[in-house]
Amino acid sequence: MCGIVGYCGYRDCSDVLVDTLSKLEYRGYDSAGIAVFENGEIKVKKSKGKLKDLKAKMEQCGKPVGKAGIGHTRWATHGKPSDINSHPHSGEKVAIVHNGIIENYKQLKEFLISHGETFVSDTDTEVVAKLLGYFYKKNPENPLATIQSTVNELEGSFALGIVFEDFPDVVYATRRQSPLIVGVGKDEYFIASDVTAIISYTKNYYLIDHDEIVEMKQDGVVIYDEYGEEKTKELMTADWDAESAKKGGFPHFMIKEIHEQPNAINMTIKPRIFDGMPNLEECGITRENIKDFKNIYIVACGTAMHAGMVGKYVIEKLARVPVVVDIASEYRYRNPIVGEGDLVIIISQSGETADSLEALKLSKKMGAKTLAIVNVKGSSIAREADMLIYTHAGPEIAVASTKAYIVQLAVMYLFAFQLALAKETINENQCRFLTQELESTPKVIEKILAEKLDMTQFIATKLISADSLLYIGRGLDYALSMEGSLKLKEISYIHSESYAAGELKHGTISLITENTPVIAVATQKNLLEKTVSNIKEVKARGAKVILVTREDFSVDKEAYDYLITLPKMHDILMPIPTAVPLQLIAYYTSVERGNDVDQPRNLAKSVTVE
Ligand code: M6R
Repeated sequence: MCGIVGYCGYRDCSDVLVDTLSKLEYRGYDSAGIAVFENGEIKVKKSKGKLKDLKAKMEQCGKPVGKAGIGHTRWATHGKPSDINSHPHSGEKVAIVHNGIIENYKQLKEFLISHGETFVSDTDTEVVAKLLGYFYKKNPENPLATIQSTVNELEGSFALGIVFEDFPDVVYATRRQSPLIVGVGKDEYFIASDVTAIISYTKNYYLIDHDEIVEMKQDGVVIYDEYGEEKTKELMTADWDAESAKKGGFPHFMIKEIHEQPNAINMTIKPRIFDGMPNLEECGITRENIKDFKNIYIVACGTAMHAGMVGKYVIEKLARVPVVVDIASEYRYRNPIVGEGDLVIIISQSGETADSLEALKLSKKMGAKTLAIVNVKGSSIAREADMLIYTHAGPEIAVASTKAYIVQLAVMYLFAFQLALAKETINENQCRFLTQELESTPKVIEKILAEKLDMTQFIATKLISADSLLYIGRGLDYALSMEGSLKLKEISYIHSESYAAGELKHGTISLITENTPVIAVATQKNLLEKTVSNIKEVKARGAKVILVTREDFSVDKEAYDYLITLPKMHDILMPIPTAVPLQLIAYYTSVERGNDVDQPRNLAKSVTVE
């Protein structure tokens, strides 16, 4: 998704803008640009491609020199990636950068054309720039009123960085739906789409609410509410530092983040376990206030939705409460049967995923209680939900989610244990045992990381030329396979599908030909025999089987070609260790194929548009 930044301070603004934009590269983008005040004039530089292309352009034609300005990385929505479509866009004496989508841009464009405006790009953003210019002409003394009149006309989502030619060295910003923060340094201020951009300059920031307007100068920042009244905001402090957002000696963020998983689990579960028992009171969850829920919905997208799939199996098994898992973009448009007495759990790493946020709002409107499981502090989903459990994965930079997924699973377990106690479907001793097992997962992952890197790398070499592969499993293994399959396809670009092993014979087994790779996951004792039968069926049809199982299970050698064994844990906890080799297989396959592991093609880290 697009990233926006802005700066007012004493440093070279162009350098700061490019540097802060580089921290947002992980969001995915295809062009970049900046606008800087140089001797009172707005100088714009922009380019299709990566930041290095913008830098090369500036080296050739000179970079703008000044102390205040705005910058942008664009992930194309309206109009292809090109120099012209790149931001900043300009109107009468104004330049802007924008993250989001203006839904009524066509009507606004027609209106502006009828008033003599002309357009050079295909973007929705240029319409906002021209509309600002239109209102500014009417009231050139008052940028605040200009911004208010403009945003009143906009439908959709936006975070905007704005500079007016007549107000040199002042940066304005506003937002609706799309995220925006203001970084507060010493004699310098920043705007950014997220804290990652500014963390090497300051850890202090304000969260900007819908329709607030920021007026930022080198000597201070003022935030106005939608009525133009000055607001006092709480200054937040990031609980991680610039080092967390660096590769720290690893070749890619993804592999670094895979290695951070043991610590991420500890950080997430330790503060929620007292005396060997789960305790989610600081998140507003007590046995008393969850015991009466009759139905649970888990709504999310992508990897977060897959964490929900594991959650479904665990909650239903332990707490005997029916759980429906839904894709947020489906849920919000299908008039879901949800209401009072139901709990809707929204899972999201970024806390900004547009469909998940809308699903949350809809659930609240329909009378359900909502619980958000979110990684990014102060994000929109975190702020909107009735109850909130933060995961403590730290910043996740690779587009492919790994450590955020693992901690989502960890939270699913804590919640399921707490619910099962509340429902009295497990007793305290059982809960204590399961909690202990959960607490041991970081050590188990460390062991896997110490022992399985070579094997997973070797397996990757066997997958690189495959056209397509299958992941199969039953029960929790099936839920986990969905994530294994997504991970592989998003970064290796090899098609794959996850399938419930027992369902293969109903159609999909026809895809198996000589040497089709099949990754079979078999970690559940009660399902082992059945899964092995399914594995033998694909093997008999020529599949190359990679079996992921437990070291205490013995499986006939004829059933597989390659074997990955995992330490023994209670069946229900097995998805946590099992996720790791599946992540590693995807990672190494992408590396072997020479792909951009951390920023796979066409993908954005945070999907803040529908
Ligand atoms: O920020 P969210 O967890 O709400 O994001 C949801 C999905 O976009 C995300 O999990 C996506 O599927 C991952 N990048 C996949 O690795």
